[in-house]
Amino acid sequence: MKVVLGPASRELGEKTAELSGLETVGVAYKAFPDGESYVRLEGSVRDEHVVIVQTTSAPQDSRLMQLAFLAGASKRNGACKVTAVVPYLGYARQDKMFLEGEGVSVETVACMLNAAGVDSLVTVNIHAEAALKKFPFPAKTLSAIPLLAEYFVEKGYGKAFALAPDKGAMYIAEQAQRVLGGGAGHLEKKRDRYTGQTTQTGEGLKVKGQPVIIFDDIISTGGTIVGAAKILRELGAANIFTACVHPVLVGDAEQRILGAGVDEVVGTDSVPSHVSKVSLAPLIAKALKAQESG
Ligand code: R5P
Repeated sequence: MKVVLGPASRELGEKTAELSGLETVGVAYKAFPDGESYVRLEGSVRDEHVVIVQTTSAPQDSRLMQLAFLAGASKRNGACKVTAVVPYLGYARQDKMFLEGEGVSVETVACMLNAAGVDSLVTVNIHAEAALKKFPFPAKTLSAIPLLAEYFVEKGYGKAFALAPDKGAMYIAEQAQRVLGGGAGHLEKKRDRYTGQTTQTGEGLKVKGQPVIIFDDIISTGGTIVGAAKILRELGAANIFTACVHPVLVGDAEQRILGAGVDEVVGTDSVPSHVSKVSLAPLIAKALKAQESG
């Protein structure tokens, strides 16, 4: 097994390879003057099971093409198997037709990766596990929530209340609660599919005087966390933190979250940024070990 260092996740790929005791293969890459992507493997992959570590956060389309080209290049250069490790799987949220006339974007991504030469996929905290069923090859999701919760235990916030921003994310709060050992609960959230506007309520939550950590799979515009923080302030929470697996943080999302009374925003290196204080490398290394021995 060799780890190909996708340009979007070079550091994570290196950390994962180091923890796994695996050799790495570098990637030369560039964009042509017209914007097209170019990649070239800088080492041999002949007869190897190749693991390409490449996230597909923004710019999603070019990163997705780089991943597909790396899979194709691996097969062309003799790799016997290609596993794509894609911590943030772009387009995963469009996993069904919400409105007439739409497609299922993640299904198209799955077909594209299959055609390119990918044989299996590992992602992290995919928005809805149902999306994995769209892949014509084995695809699984890992959870980084326990690693994020451990960050807060080390910070001295064991026993903090783990909050999910909506009912669908309650399993995330429960995973965090198992590490933190405090309480857990969720807000109610409704989203208008046409305007994207959300409304949240916090009925029945008892967090007065307690530190609260809002856990989510993804923070994009920050609207969900800003709304949750407002409710937590009204309910009298002592400190408010937020942790997510994929810190997409569009525009001034982080500033808006901090401005809403949140003390710290913590994310993973799924989407590399200055809030990526938790690395996914141990989680991915463990999954690769299981794959190698299974
Ligand atoms: C939605 O169901 C997700 O779990 C996140 O809560 C959502 O995608 C966050 O988006 P934003 O940061 O734009 O509110």
